[in-house]
Amino acid sequence: MSNLHITSLDKDYSGHQVLHGINLNVDSGEFVVFVGPSGCGKSTLLRTIAGLEDASGGSINIDARDVTRVDPAERGIAMVFQTYALYPHMTVEENMAFGLEMSGMSKAERKQTVAQVAETLHLSDYLPRKPRQLSGGQRQRVAIGRAIVRNPKIFLFDEPLSNLDAELRVKMRMEISALHQRLGATMIYVTHDQVEAMTLADKIVVLRDGRIEQVGAPMDLYADPDNAFVAGFIGSPKINFLQAQVTGRSADGGALVTVPRLGLKNLEVKPRGGMVDIGATVTLGLRPEHFGAPGQGRGPAVTLIADAVENLGSVSYAHAGPDAEEPVVVEVKDQATLAPGGAVTAEVLSGRAFLFDADGRRL
Ligand SMILES: Nc1ncnc2c1ncn2[C@@H]1O[C@H](COP(=O)(O)OP(=O)(O)OP(=O)(O)O)[C@@H](O)[C@H]1O
Ligand SMILES: [Mg+2]
Repeated sequence: MSNLHITSLDKDYSGHQVLHGINLNVDSGEFVVFVGPSGCGKSTLLRTIAGLEDASGGSINIDARDVTRVDPAERGIAMVFQTYALYPHMTVEENMAFGLEMSGMSKAERKQTVAQVAETLHLSDYLPRKPRQLSGGQRQRVAIGRAIVRNPKIFLFDEPLSNLDAELRVKMRMEISALHQRLGATMIYVTHDQVEAMTLADKIVVLRDGRIEQVGAPMDLYADPDNAFVAGFIGSPKINFLQAQVTGRSADGGALVTVPRLGLKNLEVKPRGGMVDIGATVTLGLRPEHFGAPGQGRGPAVTLIADAVENLGSVSYAHAGPDAEEPVVVEVKDQATLAPGGAVTAEVLSGRAFLFDADGRRL
């Protein structure tokens, strides 16, 4: 178990800056997930931590030792890639033992270490096979096993499950979570998958254009985002952003807003801090699940026409708005009969809504 401190880390590729002054602390035993749009620098950050890329500025410390200029092999880091990167001509056993041979461990010790790890990963029966004789999930387990046998200080995973089908992904996700608990290891994990990020992470780091937008526990990012980017990135289906105007204040300091798209006036929303200027044009952030069943008295009711409906079984999503604007997405429960063209009535649970200024900052 090791901790990691990244200070003012920059990375540029021949003058094109990809990481801008990254500051990040990862505690010992923590599971940290990096998320962000394609090209925002997640893999670059991971590879720079591993030493596969040189930092252009700033420092990386592992357990208070500055490793910024240290050879990758000496950082005590193991990385698992999306493409598994197994040697096709080697057996599972040889693949897993490969890193150990380089570290000078005796043959008998290597065999024992590999056998132990193979057992915990349910790979014992596959040790003599070549990678091409394995399923995708088994190959991924070999790649993870190869990392575990090295007993690294920190595990880095770059989208390790994205080549697997949905069912296997769920299974491997649970296995990685169990592995983390069993080893108590420090892990950093890159994913595009919302569910993986929300369920695996102690802490999520949201990146955008090589900068950190927000760091926090999954539910904190979800329920209390710092800005519209984070609100839009965390949560599926995506949050609705609706133009609104502040028209007054409620007795207890809430903002009263008019939301033309929903035909609502004087909707009360609690800003995160301070007062919001009356007359200001703002953006209301309202998640699909911030629309509740009608008749509960939890907020003003709105009726929208569902232009498209996604029925997922336990829940449906109504997409309202055929015009040029983005549709408003409303979560509907217990209404399996909802069909396109049908009316959806829901209460707006504005107590859980967010307000953002014109620059996307949370108000
Ligand atoms: N070796 C390289 N030389 C030049 N530019 C690079 C190199 N590697 C990455 N980049 C650039 O750095 C930026 C960040 O890339 P990176 O691979 O870190 O993104 P990412 O967040 O991992 O994206 P994805 O989700 O698609 O994997 C991109 O604009 C990319 O084109
Ligand atoms: Mg990447």
